[in-house]
Amino acid sequence: MPSLNMVVMKRISLLPDHVANQIAAGEVVERPASVVKELVENAIDAGATRITVELDAGGRSLIRITDDGHGMNRDDALMSLERHATSKLKEASDLTSIRSMGFRGEALPSIASVSRFTLTTREQGSESSEATRIMVVGGKLTQVEAAAGPSGTSIEVRQLFYNLPARRKFLKTKETEKAHIQTYLRLAALAHPSIGFKLVQDQRVLWQLNPLSCDETLDSRMLALEERMRQLEKDSWQRLPVQFRDTIRTRIRGEDVDRYEEEPILIWGYVGAPGVGRSNRNDQCLFINGRPVENKALNFALREAYHTALMKGMHPVCCLFLEISPAFVDVNVHPAKKEVRFHNEQAVKQCVMRAIKRSLTHFAMAHRSNDPEFQPASEDTTPSSNPADPMHQSALREGPLGGSGNQIMDLPSFDPTPTLAQKNSISTANPPSMEWKAGTVHPAADSTPQSGMQAAQTASIDFSNTPQDHDRMRPILSRQLRLIGVVSRLYVLYESESGLVLIDQHAAHERVLFEQMLSRMEQGDVASQGLLVPETIELQPADAAFLTDSMACFQKLGVGIRAFGDQTFILESIPPFIKTGQARSFLLGVLDTLNRSGEVNKMRLGEEMIAKTVCRHAVKANDSLGKEELEKLLEDLKGCTMPYTCPHGRPTVIEMSLKELDRRFGRIVP
Ligand SMILES: Nc1ncnc2c1ncn2[C@@H]1O[C@H](COP(=O)(O)OP(=O)(O)OP(=O)(O)O)[C@@H](O)[C@H]1O
Ligand SMILES: [Mg+2]
Repeated sequence: MPSLNMVVMKRISLLPDHVANQIAAGEVVERPASVVKELVENAIDAGATRITVELDAGGRSLIRITDDGHGMNRDDALMSLERHATSKLKEASDLTSIRSMGFRGEALPSIASVSRFTLTTREQGSESSEATRIMVVGGKLTQVEAAAGPSGTSIEVRQLFYNLPARRKFLKTKETEKAHIQTYLRLAALAHPSIGFKLVQDQRVLWQLNPLSCDETLDSRMLALEERMRQLEKDSWQRLPVQFRDTIRTRIRGEDVDRYEEEPILIWGYVGAPGVGRSNRNDQCLFINGRPVENKALNFALREAYHTALMKGMHPVCCLFLEISPAFVDVNVHPAKKEVRFHNEQAVKQCVMRAIKRSLTHFAMAHRSNDPEFQPASEDTTPSSNPADPMHQSALREGPLGGSGNQIMDLPSFDPTPTLAQKNSISTANPPSMEWKAGTVHPAADSTPQSGMQAAQTASIDFSNTPQDHDRMRPILSRQLRLIGVVSRLYVLYESESGLVLIDQHAAHERVLFEQMLSRMEQGDVASQGLLVPETIELQPADAAFLTDSMACFQKLGVGIRAFGDQTFILESIPPFIKTGQARSFLLGVLDTLNRSGEVNKMRLGEEMIAKTVCRHAVKANDSLGKEELEKLLEDLKGCTMPYTCPHGRPTVIEMSLKELDRRFGRIVP
């Protein structure tokens, strides 16, 4: 006889709406920051130009979001609280062209089911001067009334999770919840400089970011973004512009035959200069079609792009926007839409790497812009075929791309004068009525590990606390340097028009040697030394397969290796700069590193091998060098593709500006 339990379980019934909504809320609403995210996204979708976020107790007792968007009439307002009610999507196929932040019609009913919720809204341009106010308590509609109110929408969420004590217990302190909210708002503010954002906590204004005027052109968006970054930052990092277009080719699997589709991709924004990084990823802001996202493949692409330009353990900083047809990105893979999936992730990753490498190289080579040998690429459609050309080097270092020929755009100049002039041309749109005070920016007074740009910078190049100093935008090596002397037989001291410049002679020499060896290797000029006793190397199946695939590449680099059975290899010769006693560990080390990075190509393999050994050959820390040798070292460094970091990513050159000296001697008040 079946047990009572079994009988009960067999009866199926539909869950009441408010229970279904509470369950959906479990996924959509995790904490106050999720409420802020959903409501701010709705305001953005409604075309708001100003959004005010008010919080009490970090959003635990009150979140009020007010916008001046298109608002809703009474019927729509009532409808908006129904599950699966949305104005942004009509049928499933619309998902492939979705440009709005929302599309599921789930946020409002979910939030309303776990709070005391009040929606006040008035449709823009409607004849009626009345707004509609709707109150919902724990998912139950309690009141609908006419009210006074400006056009736009205001939503109040009180006592989040009051009816779910188990979830309320998981809320953290007021400060932590506020930090999560700020983290999201910072991303929203970066993605939408033309919207004004105001953040008020316990009646105190924390931020007031006025809307910035900005048109559709990329230059205008770059300027607005830079200005918005400055509005938000306490400290700034030295940033390089990125503007890059390419085409992504994606295979669409058909029932019988596959076909290929090509779509343009645009990557733009700012990345940190060589050597500028943080010990965490809080300053990696990535946006796909305006949506802030977390994506491991893109984090990886960023790190790879910096490669020798950043120290181990440091993460690049960026504010980078990817624009690609929505048909090539799946945004419906994460309950809070924090993640996306690309149809051709590999190609997107490669594009990001190329875009960033190009900006890093462009910056590093700026001091050679008068050099007739160096012509920065502009509107090129194919990479140069001259192996001595630095742009060619970076093109070679990249793996195969799923895309076709890329269109490289002209990057803004690093010359400070136009940058300043451009900066001045940014205007803040005149705020209309409301209580927005023009021109006042209040960055968050406090910072937590979560609050990104407000948090202390750990840039590996120090002396960076003069954010407004536009001279910092000009690469140090493009200035006139006058030798003063050498400190501790290691640091070479120079004077420039804007301060003191120090070069680490050992790190600089490492960089010079590294690039020389790399260029020899590119030209196929790598000798090989035979091992007296060839080494037999036994590998795990995955490593063996990897080595078999990249064998030709290893051989070109002077590593003589051949297969001896499925998983056994014989190592017969190695490049001359490797000690014979270390042949085996060297090969295993290189295999390990490259295997982990997931791809191999000739240059990347070579870089890894050379970086591992170049240190031993470089000038020792306390070798004393004569004036001529120092001059030669500086010239050689200037000739490098990436002169500002050694092959291990440590800085080769740092600067202490006159302003910094004045500050430290108390001549100017910081
Ligand atoms: N601030 C607002 N101004 C104007 N209309 C709004 C606003 N907030 C919500 N709406 C309307 O209410 C609808 C439901 O909002 P809701 O956030 O629940 O769903 P969505 O935005 O369509 O999708 P998602 O669940 O993915 O956010 C929206 O489609 C929109 O038409
Ligand atoms: Mg929404």
